[in-house]
Amino acid sequence: MTSAIKTELSPEDSIAKGAPVIIIEHLFKRFDKNVVLKDFNLTVHGEENVVVLGKSGAGKSVLIKCVIGLLKPDSGKILVFGDNVPDLSPDDLDKVRSKIGFLFQANALYDSMTVRENLEFPLRRHWIDLSQLQVKQRVAGLSPA
Ligand SMILES: Nc1ncnc2c1ncn2[C@@H]1O[C@H](COP(=O)(O)OP(=O)(O)O)[C@@H](O)[C@H]1O
Ligand SMILES: [Mg+2]
Repeated sequence: MTSAIKTELSPEDSIAKGAPVIIIEHLFKRFDKNVVLKDFNLTVHGEENVVVLGKSGAGKSVLIKCVIGLLKPDSGKILVFGDNVPDLSPDDLDKVRSKIGFLFQANALYDSMTVRENLEFPLRRHWIDLSQLQVKQRVAGLSPA
């Protein structure tokens, strides 16, 4: 996979329009002889929505896993909010991940929790200083993120 499709802008996004949020440069990832990402390049700006399309096995999940640091690329840069993800220590990676919303394709939600509790879960985990009310307000979209 070598490219992605950019679509419409999201007015709700708090990132300044035009500021790069994700910059991917010359990304390569292979598993033995299976070359999955071959010189993949993409810049995503604030207030921009991007859809990555591709047939099954094209490398969409591998790409996302590289962006959030679950997989280490063979080479290339993945700057997220200015930090090169492959270079980050586990602690710094945690900090970057706390700014990223990510949903796995399968088993996406904890089925023992309600949808609301699933949305509250990362807020409680990463922002332990938030009160119960603040968590509920954020989930309800009543206070700025
Ligand atoms: N951990 C892994 N080890 C070896 N091969 C993998 C691994 N993860 C993905 N692949 C291979 O990488 C290719 C892209 O997979 P993937 O990104 O999951 O595709 P999709 O675009 O459907 O999300 C596939 O050929 C897959 O078999
Ligand atoms: Mg996938």
